[in-house]
Amino acid sequence: MDFSTMDHLRGRDFLSLKDFDGRSLYQMLDAAQRFKAMNHGHIPHTHVLRGKTLAMIFSKSSTRTRVSFETGIWQLGGLGQFLSSNDLQVGRGETIHDTAKVLSRYVDGIMIRTFDHQDVVDLAEHASVPVINGLTDLLHPCQVMADFLTIKEHRQTIQGCKVAYIGDGNNMANSLMFGGARFGAHVTICSPERYLPDTEMVDQARAIAEDEQGTDIHVETDVFKAVQGADVIYTDVWASMGQESQQQERLQEFREYQVNQELLRHAKSDAVVMHCLPAHRGEEISAEVIDGPQSIVFDQAENRLHAQKAIMAVLMR
Ligand code: CP
Ligand code: NVA
Repeated sequence: MDFSTMDHLRGRDFLSLKDFDGRSLYQMLDAAQRFKAMNHGHIPHTHVLRGKTLAMIFSKSSTRTRVSFETGIWQLGGLGQFLSSNDLQVGRGETIHDTAKVLSRYVDGIMIRTFDHQDVVDLAEHASVPVINGLTDLLHPCQVMADFLTIKEHRQTIQGCKVAYIGDGNNMANSLMFGGARFGAHVTICSPERYLPDTEMVDQARAIAEDEQGTDIHVETDVFKAVQGADVIYTDVWASMGQESQQQERLQEFREYQVNQELLRHAKSDAVVMHCLPAHRGEEISAEVIDGPQSIVFDQAENRLHAQKAIMAVLMR
């Protein structure tokens, strides 16, 4: 596989889709598609990151992110090290700065999932190897790479596609706005008023959209208006990791925001349904929709593997 056109991305951090131009992100999607074809064709590609190590720091739970990165680096010929922050000295007060400097002496890349986005920014500033954001309270860019790969596969083109995200204005909503702006999709975020994304995030996404392909980044509180003409309906949990104590209150406040069969009737008849997972059937999405014919959530989950491999290969070669 030829990565020569992506040399400018080598050694970079992957903290936010804001930091990459649309062309570079499309190059990464192409790489992901090629890795997927190799997996499906049983073509080994262990030469890509042979002998390289990825440290994977987790301060929150994970199924998809952990397994896709760990399996992905192994398929590329390298080693993934799962490091729970509870077991690291950082959990006992060692600074992020020292952790970044020490890990950089051992490994070729660091993936981190944590709460405060600033911790990831600090880690990246002090590490001399690429740092990959595996989810913070603010952003989840790796997920959105897999999401747009899935949209590309199902709809052939991302450009002009209308994505309606129904739910909390959280890390997924923020990253979807940035991704839509970079890849050329129109994105509407629909939440109860007090759960709309931060205006700073919306403004940043609109600025990116202006620089790129001029797509619309829209916020809305009416679910039926939001899904009108939508090609993709996306949702996520109402209470994210770290918000467990607000679960009951959120169940009440979001109850009109469920993605269900009635809502789907207001979107395009061939609209697809997406969810980053884990899902709570009967809360943000009905069982009949997530398990129904319009759902592409498991293709989306599979694509985490291929998209994450592309990110590692491009940054860590
Ligand atoms: N979508 C996602 O990031 O899943 P995990 O929390 O299981 O990693
Ligand atoms: N918004 C969710 C996404 C999980 C992948 C969370 O942060 O828990």
